[in-house]
Amino acid sequence: MFEEHYALPIDKTQWDTADKSGSAVFTWSYDTERERLLRLYSQGKRRQWDAQIRIDWSLPAYASSPEVDSAIGLAGSQLWSKLSEDEREQVRLHLLAWQFSQFLHGEQGALICASKIVQTVPEIDAKFYAATQVMDEARHVEVYSTYLDTLAIAYPINASLKSLLNDVLSDTRWDITFLGMQVLIEGLALAAFGLVRNNTSIELVRNLTAYVMQDEARHVAFGRVALRDYYPQLTEHERAEREEFCAEACLVMRDRFLAQDVWERFGFDVQACTEHLNNSESQQLFRGLLFQRIVPTIRDIGLWSPKMRDTFASMGVMGFADTDLDAIEAEDDAIAEGIDGLRKAQVNDTIQAGAD
Ligand SMILES: [Fe+2]
Ligand SMILES: [Fe+2]
Repeated sequence: MFEEHYALPIDKTQWDTADKSGSAVFTWSYDTERERLLRLYSQGKRRQWDAQIRIDWSLPAYASSPEVDSAIGLAGSQLWSKLSEDEREQVRLHLLAWQFSQFLHGEQGALICASKIVQTVPEIDAKFYAATQVMDEARHVEVYSTYLDTLAIAYPINASLKSLLNDVLSDTRWDITFLGMQVLIEGLALAAFGLVRNNTSIELVRNLTAYVMQDEARHVAFGRVALRDYYPQLTEHERAEREEFCAEACLVMRDRFLAQDVWERFGFDVQACTEHLNNSESQQLFRGLLFQRIVPTIRDIGLWSPKMRDTFASMGVMGFADTDLDAIEAEDDAIAEGIDGLRKAQVNDTIQAGAD
């Protein structure tokens, strides 16, 4: 025990004089006890990467991809059939920029939340890990802002992401930051990233998304490890509060991808577009898939009352409850490493061709 080393008695109570709101928590026990957390911390340290080196920014930032039309959800609508091919191309480009803008703003939210976690989480091992995440999130903000700079189009943060970030940041309970950010916002982002990575025909987009996902999988794992230890210690009433927070947030997030700002930008009838999307089968499928990481995580951390399960059942996403999270995390890792391997091989080929 580290505390045995103190030559004078220490005040073991939380020291909040550094921060009048009482949100900064110091610990005087420097023992690192949780092996899984330390492993994540160690991974976080070793796997830092530099977006300017790892990503080949000379690849084209955009390529026409009509295959995304079904995912846009407007395909098949009257409005879509009236558009010329040029106009459709503009909508595709703007939707990509809109989606990546939300990723960018979400990443900044994650950066701020991760730094808040460093301050508020009571244990030193969790502070260590969260510090690596602060750096990860800064790199993600860098990646997405660089990408949007190349596209030269960006959109403001959408209302539902903004309100969720507000809720998460204004709550002083450390676990709500974890639950809101690491489990819900990042869980949803990770699923959305996965859909992008697996379906895009733009190589640059696939590569940068795979690299970000490699880090994000670690972040969601951090949330799981920290909360799995903590939630069993709460009273049933306290857990019910957390479940209510989750249920509300999930409903808000489900509407996060309606892209109203894009329809507005093009002068489309926003209400008609929203209605069409709400009834579109591909949109419903898409919005269901967004919960593939959240549902098994919520189950894993023990917020699994009948009420919580009913909420997920009503959203049609209970099928994800049995997802093997460790297996998909390992897959995210392998895909990113695979891209590195491919790039190395390409560089070697170029060098070889030069020599020949
Ligand atoms: Fe991130
Ligand atoms: Fe993250």
